[in-house]
Amino acid sequence: MTRAPAGGAIERVGVLGCGLMGAGIAEVCARSGAGVVVVEASDGAVATGRKRLTASLERAVASGRLDSAARDEVLARISFGTGIEAFADRQLVIEAVPEVLELKLDAFRRIDAAVADPEAILASNTSSIPIGRIAAATGRPGQVLGVHFFNPVPVLPLVELVSSLQTSPDTLARARSFAEGLGKQVILAQDRAGFVVNALLVPYLLSAIRMLEAGHASAEDIDTGMVAGCAHPMGPLRLADLVGLDTTLHVANSLYGEFKEPHYAPPALLMRMVDAGRLGRKSGAGFYTYD
Ligand code: CAA
Repeated sequence: MTRAPAGGAIERVGVLGCGLMGAGIAEVCARSGAGVVVVEASDGAVATGRKRLTASLERAVASGRLDSAARDEVLARISFGTGIEAFADRQLVIEAVPEVLELKLDAFRRIDAAVADPEAILASNTSSIPIGRIAAATGRPGQVLGVHFFNPVPVLPLVELVSSLQTSPDTLARARSFAEGLGKQVILAQDRAGFVVNALLVPYLLSAIRMLEAGHASAEDIDTGMVAGCAHPMGPLRLADLVGLDTTLHVANSLYGEFKEPHYAPPALLMRMVDAGRLGRKSGAGFYTYD
């Protein structure tokens, strides 16, 4: 007989960070019935995050995927604040702060200190930073793993689960059952930079940026090539804008740092665009401009 994982079903979730990914993660957790506490760094970031999450729910209502009573129930299950002590009673905390190692390590030290439940799972939505390194910043490395969602979180069905060398089998089993309860499809990945999807996707995005930089074709033609020629839902430059050029750069740096392969090295154009604050859709301009 297989032993049930300790800790029981997860009904109280914390999400640290309410940017593109954090807002989507909070939304799908609350839509599946969990109570969600969202913590952001400042009142301004809370207001922006709340607006982002509400806009996504409104979109679901407008397209008939959610009725307005259900939207109100979802919103009632989510609370927002700036104090990490609000995570004290959480059974699962998912960190979704920017892809910068020092920020992640600091976040995990603070989450570890705030969460009282000794069986709670501390998860990172990192797309490229080693889970083992993040886990070492906590006093409970066996309960730390990667739970990596894809953007837009309410739309894309995948979650990558990443165990470090120290993640316990119970932690993985509980996280798997939670992610499947969100209606997500799970794949397991080794704790290597980029895991499965970004290790394949990001060099493709970087190649498209190099192609544009070298003048092989226009941004529109590169994108049309992959949409009309390969049936991708969007071309690589529009996708880089959706992911965020800062995030694309951080992931490229993590991949290059780990494997030292030239195809992971960020192209100069990407670095200059990030320097200029052209971060893609979220800043209003990247390879394209947005309202
Ligand atoms: N939030 C919520 N719902 C959204 C949404 C968002 N941000 N964007 C789109 N949707 C919903 C729409 O409401 C719509 O649903 P209905 O049909 O029920 O109304 C559906 O998704 C399709 O949207 P649209 O008709 O507006 O647009 P589309 O058909 O062009 O699809 C897309 C948009 C879903 C973004 C699609 O182009 C797509 O899937 N692109 C690829 C995205 C991708 O590859 N993401 C992975 C990025 S990598 C990553 O995230 C990992 C990382 O670590 C960097």
